[in-house]
Amino acid sequence: MKVDNPADLQNSDKVITEVPTQQTDLTAEFDYLIEKIEAANFRNDPFRFIQIENFLSDAHFNEVITATEINRPPATSTENLIEDLQQNGYQVQVFPGCTTSIKKYLKAYNAEEWPVDKELLEGFGLVFRLKHYSTPLLKRLVEFLNTPKFKAALEKKFGIKEPNHIETAFQKYLHAYEISPHPDSRRKAVTYMLNLNTHKDSEKMDIHTHLLKFKPERVYIRDFWKNNKDIERCWVPWHWCESIFETRPNNSISLFAPSNDTLHAVKLNYDHLQYQRTQLYGNLWYNGGKPPYFPSYKDIADNPVDIEGIKKRSGMQKIQRKLDSMVPTSIKYRLIKLMGK
Ligand SMILES: [Fe+2]
Repeated sequence: MKVDNPADLQNSDKVITEVPTQQTDLTAEFDYLIEKIEAANFRNDPFRFIQIENFLSDAHFNEVITATEINRPPATSTENLIEDLQQNGYQVQVFPGCTTSIKKYLKAYNAEEWPVDKELLEGFGLVFRLKHYSTPLLKRLVEFLNTPKFKAALEKKFGIKEPNHIETAFQKYLHAYEISPHPDSRRKAVTYMLNLNTHKDSEKMDIHTHLLKFKPERVYIRDFWKNNKDIERCWVPWHWCESIFETRPNNSISLFAPSNDTLHAVKLNYDHLQYQRTQLYGNLWYNGGKPPYFPSYKDIADNPVDIEGIKKRSGMQKIQRKLDSMVPTSIKYRLIKLMGK
C-alpha cells in the first residue's frame, strides 16, 4: 500500500501491526561518491572548480554505460533515433540552448540551416531526459544524487548556506546543441555534470564543455555582474572569451558554484546516430525568485555598461509581454492579416 499522506493511513481499514525498527539505506552503495567529493581539491584556472576523474567505480561505470537506456544501437536516421529514445524512457526536456519542438529540430537538422542569432551561436539542440528506467542501478544512482545527504555534501563543499533544492537527471544531447559562454543563472547554487559516453573515442570528439575566461577587453563584464546583483548574467559571444579547459575524460565529474567568472560553453558537432553525448547533469537551485532584469549581450557590449538603459528596456519588455499575453491569439492573427504580414 502506497501512503502519500499520513491522513490516508489513519483512514485506512488496514492496520499496520509491524513497524520496521531499522531502515535499510538503499543508496549507501554510492556513499563513496560523497567521500570523493569531500577529498577533491579545487582547481583555479580559469575559475574555481572541481574535476574528479573515475568518479563512478569501474563496476558501476561499466553497468551504466552498458545499460539499455544509455547504450542505444546505432540509428539509421535522426527520426529513428528520436523514436528509439522515446521508446526507451526518454522525453524531450526544456533546456537552455535547445528547442522542445522535434519538428523544428528536424527541419533545421535536415536542412543544415539553424535559425539562430549568428553573432552568438551556430545552432541549437534537442535534449532528452531519462524519465523511465529499465535498469535498477540507474534509478538508484539518480535517487542517490537527489538525496539530502548528497545535497548536503555539495553545500558543504561549496559553502552554500541559502535554502535550495537539488535536481539531477540522465540526459542525452543531440548534434548542434550549443550554449555560448555564460556563467549560469544567479538562481543556480551549484552545477555539476558527469560524462557517461558509450563510444570508445568520445574523449576525442567535439562534444565537451569548455571552461573559459574573458579576454582582457571584456573583463569589465565580470565586474559589472559582480556589482549589479539585480541584473541576470547572460550568454556572451564566443569571441569575447578564451577557452582554457575542456571537461573531456569519460566518467569524470565537473562541479562549480556559479559566480561572475564561471564561464562555460558547449557546441556539439558529432554524429549522434552512432552514440549520444550522455551526462548525469544536476544543479542545486536557490529557492528564491529570478533577478528582475534580463539584459542580452548586446546591452553589455559597451564599457561602461548603460545600467539605466538596461532597466528602462527591461521595464518596457515586461509591459510588452504583459500586453501580448492579454491579447487573444485569434485577434493577434487577425491583426497580422490586416497588416498584410
Ligand atoms: Fe550552464
